[in-house]
Amino acid sequence: MPNLKTQQLLVPFLIFLATATFPSDIKASTDTNGVYLPCSDTKVKISDGFTFGIAFASRDSFFFNLSHQLSPCDRRLSLSSLNSQLAVFRPKLDEISLLTINTSSFFPDTYGGYMVAFAGRKYAARSVPAFVANSTYTVNSFTLVLEFQKGRLQNLYWKRDGCASCAGKSNFVCLNKQDCAIKISDCKNRGGSVDCSIGIQLAFSGTDKHLAVLNSWYEVENLRQYSLYSLYSNLRDSLTSQYNKFF
Ligand SMILES: *[C@@H]1O[C@H](CO)[C@@H](O)[C@H](O)[C@H]1NC(C)=O
Ligand SMILES: *[C@@H]1O[C@H](CO)[C@@H](O)[C@H](O)[C@H]1NC(C)=O
Ligand SMILES: *[C@@H]1O[C@H](CO)[C@@H](O)[C@H](O)[C@H]1NC(C)=O
Repeated sequence: MPNLKTQQLLVPFLIFLATATFPSDIKASTDTNGVYLPCSDTKVKISDGFTFGIAFASRDSFFFNLSHQLSPCDRRLSLSSLNSQLAVFRPKLDEISLLTINTSSFFPDTYGGYMVAFAGRKYAARSVPAFVANSTYTVNSFTLVLEFQKGRLQNLYWKRDGCASCAGKSNFVCLNKQDCAIKISDCKNRGGSVDCSIGIQLAFSGTDKHLAVLNSWYEVENLRQYSLYSLYSNLRDSLTSQYNKFF
């Protein structure tokens, strides 16, 4: 049984999913995956929807006994009783997608400033915690790769570009040689004018349950850029226009 307690106590605050449409990539799509909760196990095939979560909390709260990182689904973390937030997404397997989390009323720095992407229970997979924001800086652009084997999620990892996408851009600061960050004071609702909503570029690797190879990570990597915002036509009036000023 899914952990309903966690589902109810971690309040999903905003879900907005945008999907890229690469002409070469249009397939007849049918979603045959009946599992809609992130803390459940499933096996998926290409064009199935796949539900996963992103939890926001302090870095320490993702570790049991300050030493073992556990999945946010694991009750031993008792994330739901800590200062945390949960976002749930359902992208289609092997479709390059951009997830956005609107930060006009959600400030990640007030929830500990780190995020972990996760799915599964018995076969729990989770990313390492990624820095999102503290009271000085915020990171807005991420690339997340979901790696499947025979249709089962094995791993989620953040791909960094070593600040290549923001080199020489005066609005950005390169943190720890890996994250392009903006000053919080430049963000809308925090005294500045930039929409600091979080954009997560999603890609897939590995194989689906019929052993078909997932190609979307390969495609993203070959485009040799980590900020593909201009490809998402449906975001033209929100994230894209302002990111175009920077990238
Ligand atoms: C937690 O860590 C402490 C100190 O490192 C150790 O003594 C204790 O056995 C650990 N508890 C568990 C449940 O792993
Ligand atoms: C915010 O994070 C940056 C990068 O890790 C660090 O240099 C800075 O001291 C932090 N600021 C605060 C107020 O914690
Ligand atoms: C976030 O929400 C605010 C208020 O609803 C809206 O004005 C803004 O355009 C949104 N930003 C994005 C990136 O969708």
